[in-house]
Amino acid sequence: MQKKIILIGAGYWGTNIANNLVKLGIKNIWLYDTSKKSLKTLKRRFPKNINIISNLNKFYKDKKFKYFIYATPPSKNFRLITPALENKKIIFVEKPGFKNLNEVDLLVKKYPKEIKSIMFGYIYMFNNYINYIKKFINNKKNGKILYIRFIRQNLGPIRNDIDVSYDLSSHDLSIINFLFNNKKFKIIKNQSYKLLNSQIADLSNISFKINNTFIDINNSWINPDKIRSLIVITKKKMLLFDEMLKDNKIKIYNKFADYPKTELLKNNFFNRKIKIHIGKNISPKIKNNDPLYDELKFFINSNNKSLSKKKYLNIDAGRSILKILSNLDKKN
Ligand SMILES: NC(=O)c1ccc[n+]([C@@H]2O[C@H](COP(=O)([O-])OP(=O)(O)OC[C@H]3O[C@@H](n4cnc5c(N)ncnc54)[C@H](O)[C@@H]3O)[C@@H](O)[C@H]2O)c1
Repeated sequence: MQKKIILIGAGYWGTNIANNLVKLGIKNIWLYDTSKKSLKTLKRRFPKNINIISNLNKFYKDKKFKYFIYATPPSKNFRLITPALENKKIIFVEKPGFKNLNEVDLLVKKYPKEIKSIMFGYIYMFNNYINYIKKFINNKKNGKILYIRFIRQNLGPIRNDIDVSYDLSSHDLSIINFLFNNKKFKIIKNQSYKLLNSQIADLSNISFKINNTFIDINNSWINPDKIRSLIVITKKKMLLFDEMLKDNKIKIYNKFADYPKTELLKNNFFNRKIKIHIGKNISPKIKNNDPLYDELKFFINSNNKSLSKKKYLNIDAGRSILKILSNLDKKN
């Protein structure tokens, strides 16, 4: 039987979601948005697949409609998702999910059982390159992980309801939780700049430490060009993930710098000269997948039990990222 999918939000990302649902063979998508213009535009694009709805209430009550996807601004989600929880729907909400930790905590308290049927749209959990990076980090041959840096910058989309860290660093935090198995981390520094208005931060620099690894996250939505990069520096190798490249997005540089062991220097500290080692670089063959397609495929084939078990996507995962962001707010 064909799944009945409700999509709420027909903006930039809702359009990508609709496109992928159609690719997944979903014949009927029930679409809701407060903007008539957005609804019309998306209907024009997929005239056979989209059914426009003007009132959600009936659909919340109807048991035939189980799957609700939210691609709406986080500040609207608390109000929009509450009736879906009340009516035991299976829910996909785009990252970061909610405006703040307080909102998610209120929902957890009021709907402790139903909230387990929520999945947060942390798309990098479906990215083959990120999977590869986890294997690279866990490979003992590469040596200790010294440093990781994320850069995520572009001109726009500029949000007016959440800071850039909630919008963009949330992706990087989901990747860090995945790479380090949800290990707790220490915030070293958090700096953000409100450039366009006095309420919303447009640029953010966050520094953390996990075990002995230093991590920087550098985000901006006021940047002349689009950058999506991640570097990992280990004792023996350096990895660069450049998401903007079409292919060969990961390059591994067999380069490293180290000091000679002190015992070889007859205890003369001033003889400690750094040595640079340079070997051959490689681009590992990694299959380019479409993470949004895979993410939605997973969602529409899930039930409340399978969702609650997804360590990096379930309510605990979504809440933990909002908790880190809220701790960062306090440090700023
Ligand atoms: N996973 C990703 O890589 C990714 C990328 C972009 C955006 N997103 C997320 O998707 C969500 C939407 O972002 P976007 O870029 O599409 O924003 P957008 O502004 O382009 O679209 C939001 C849509 O929601 C509609 N809307 C607003 N309030 C509503 C309400 N109360 N009821 C129904 N519809 C309402 C708007 O009319 C608009 O069409 C955000 O949470 C964002 O973080 C995720």
